[in-house]
Amino acid sequence: MILSYIYNILKFKKWKLLFFVIIFIIFKWSKIITFQPNINYLTELHKCPACFGTSACNYIHKVDITPYDFYSTFSYLFGVKNVFFGFFINNKVILKKLAHSSELNDFDRMLCENENFGHICEKNLKNVNNKTSIDFYELIVREVTLDFAKDNLVRLRLCPNAQHLRNLLEYVYVNNEQVDLKTLEINIWMSIILNPEPLLLQILPANNNWPVPKYLGACGRIVIEEYVGSPLTAYYNKSWLLRAKIASSLLNAAYMFTYRSNDFGFYLTDVSADNIAIDSNNNAKFVDLENVIIVDKNSIYKEKSMWNQLQENTENLNCTECLAYSPAEICNHKTSDHNYYAICKTLLALNIDDGVLPGGLLHNIPTDILKTYPNVEYLIEQCITPRKPFTRISAGMQLKQLLDTIIEDKN
Ligand SMILES: Nc1ncnc2c1ncn2[C@@H]1O[C@H](COP(=O)(O)OP(=O)(O)O)[C@@H](O)[C@H]1O
Ligand SMILES: [Mg+2]
Repeated sequence: MILSYIYNILKFKKWKLLFFVIIFIIFKWSKIITFQPNINYLTELHKCPACFGTSACNYIHKVDITPYDFYSTFSYLFGVKNVFFGFFINNKVILKKLAHSSELNDFDRMLCENENFGHICEKNLKNVNNKTSIDFYELIVREVTLDFAKDNLVRLRLCPNAQHLRNLLEYVYVNNEQVDLKTLEINIWMSIILNPEPLLLQILPANNNWPVPKYLGACGRIVIEEYVGSPLTAYYNKSWLLRAKIASSLLNAAYMFTYRSNDFGFYLTDVSADNIAIDSNNNAKFVDLENVIIVDKNSIYKEKSMWNQLQENTENLNCTECLAYSPAEICNHKTSDHNYYAICKTLLALNIDDGVLPGGLLHNIPTDILKTYPNVEYLIEQCITPRKPFTRISAGMQLKQLLDTIIEDKN
C-alpha cells in the first residue's frame, strides 16, 4: 500500500528528482555527522594496545577531513573502504582504518572470546591486574609463517622462515623506540593480522625513495599517510608519452621491490590500477600494501640449486585478467619474476579487456613511435609470456630502457 503510494508519486518526474535530492542530502548529512568532525570516533584510542600505535595522537586532531578532488569526493560520499582524505598544515593526507568495519568487529570479538587475549579485550583494559605471560613476538612469528596449505589468506608472509624477522622490522623498532616493547609487539601483531601496510611503509620508507607513500604515524585504529595523488586509472586518457613515463616508473618499482634490498625481496600480490597512485613527478607509487610476500634472501635453504634459480611463474590460466601465482613457489626461490609479471600482465598488457584499463596503460601507441621503435609491443609481450632468451625480468628491464629512450627523444 505504502509502496504503491510512493510509486505513484515517483511517476511524476519532478518528484523523482526531488526524491533523489533528498536521499542524497540525507546520505551526505549522515556521512558528515558520523565521520567528519569526530576524530575520536575514528581513532577508538580506548582500544589500545589493540591498535596500530599512538605516534600521531598529538596532532591527529588538527587534521581537517575534507575531500579535495573528484576521486576523493566520490570516495568520501560513496566509499565503503574506511579511507578518509584530509589536510594537515596545508599538506594532503590520507587516514586509513586499514580494514572494513566488519573485520575490525570480528577482531575485537576474537580478542574478548579468546582467553589468551582477554587482557587486551576492550572490556578488561581498565583492570590493572590483567598481566599475561603471552609472548606476542612468538605470535607474530607464527602469523607470518603460517602454512600455505592451511591458510592462503595471510596478508604478510615472511619466507622461507622467520629467522631474520627482527632485521626486517628494524625500522619499526627504531621508529617506536619510546614505546614499551610489549605494547609495540601487540601493535605489530594486530597490524599483521588486519593489515600490515603501516609496517611495510616503515620497512620501505618513502624517504629512502621506495615507491610508496610517506608514513606519518598512527593514532589508535587510524594510520596517517601522505596523499600521493590521483589513482593510475585517472591517467588512462593522458598523452602516450606521459603514460610511458608512468609505465617506466612501474617497471622501476618492480626492479626495486625485487632487487634493491640485499636482505629481502618484496612481492606484491595485489597489484591493480586502483592500488597505485601517481605523484606530482608522474611516478607511480603503491598505496595499498595489504598483501605482500617477503622472501628472506639470506635464508639458509636446503635445496641450493632450486633456491638460486629464478622462479618463473608458469601458472596457466586462460584468462587475460587473472593473475595466478603460487606463494609456495615464490618462497622456494631467492628471486622471483612475480613483480614484473604482475605489473606487465595486469597493467601494461595490450590485450587487457577490463573496464578499468582496456588495452593496458600503454594503449594506442602512436604510429610514429611504433615506426621508430617497433620493439615496444614485442617487449611488452615478452614481459608477460617470454620466449628464450628472454625472461620476464630481462624483457621488463629492456622495456623500461626503451621507454626512457623514447621519452628522452621526444622531449
Ligand atoms: N596514500 C595514498 N595516496 C593517494 N591515494 C590513496 C592513498 N591511499 C589510498 N588511496 C586511494 O584510496 C583507495 C582505497 O585505499 P586502499 O588502501 O587501496 O584501501 P582498500 O584496502 O580498501 O582497497 C585507493 O584505491 C586509492 O585510490
Ligand atoms: Mg585497494
